[in-house]
Amino acid sequence: MSPRHLLSLDDLGREGIERVIERAIELKRSPRSDLPLTGQTLAMVFEKASTRTRVSFEAGMTRFGGHAIFLSPQDTQIGRGEPVEDTARVLARMCDAVMIRNHSHVTLEKFAAYSSVPVINGLTDRLHPCQLLADIQTYVEHRGSISGATVAWIGDGNNMCHSYLNAARLLGFELRIAAPEGYAPDPEILAAAGDAARLCDQAQTAVDGADLVVTDVWASMGDEQNRETRLADFANFQVNKALMSWAKPGALFMHCLPAHRGEEVSAEVIDGSQSVVWDEAENRLHAQMALLLGLLNVE
Ligand code: CP
Ligand code: NVA
Repeated sequence: MSPRHLLSLDDLGREGIERVIERAIELKRSPRSDLPLTGQTLAMVFEKASTRTRVSFEAGMTRFGGHAIFLSPQDTQIGRGEPVEDTARVLARMCDAVMIRNHSHVTLEKFAAYSSVPVINGLTDRLHPCQLLADIQTYVEHRGSISGATVAWIGDGNNMCHSYLNAARLLGFELRIAAPEGYAPDPEILAAAGDAARLCDQAQTAVDGADLVVTDVWASMGDEQNRETRLADFANFQVNKALMSWAKPGALFMHCLPAHRGEEVSAEVIDGSQSVVWDEAENRLHAQMALLLGLLNVE
């Protein structure tokens, strides 16, 4: 039997996502004391920098009585060109699950195809499903079900935007995307979302009456080479107080972090009363602990 992976939210489907969120909220409220992953090892391969993803997976494994190994290309044979198929087979012989953050989603899929243990997408150029689990958990904790809500995505049509598109399709919320010309999301992922998503020319149109406003950096990891051009292109897409005033009173603000105050978000919004970014960051831990139990078939 092939293992269960989380490469995209589609691997969980609506019911799977709901189960993870329910379990995450439960774990956060009453942490387990039975160390359900005693003796189990999670390999974590990071081709790109990380604070939250690394710490949340590592701390989650510790809390469950297991262990996580941090692997970077510089210190392993991955960086010296060992084929991904070989690395995948070897890690699966020694570890119980693998988490990967890498540049190319295609490489992640190749890795998963050769892995006999669950593989978790810790961010690729295309998707960031673990962050969405935390974002949905955070929305549910603050406002209840996200189905039927209106969510505004402001800024780059990047990996996070793509995962929001997938979530909108699977969970039934409306996603309005305002991105500058040339930075729209992948047309296939957008089209797959159907009626759940629409592109807006202006940030105000997207935010008008929204329950949740979300943004992310203007230059993702790997896109930094055109930073100056990007800063100019995104100038009208900052989430600030004036923009937030178009949303529903009491609308939430989220950002996966790390944030650049004064660029994609003003300090008064991210540090203000509508921002739930610290809950969102904490929920990476709970959502991924719930995810690990599911993928490793632990009751
Ligand atoms: N949000 C997120 O994935 O953060 P890190 O890059 O710090 O892991
Ligand atoms: N879109 C950002 C998310 C970082 C967590 C990036 O890929 O760098």
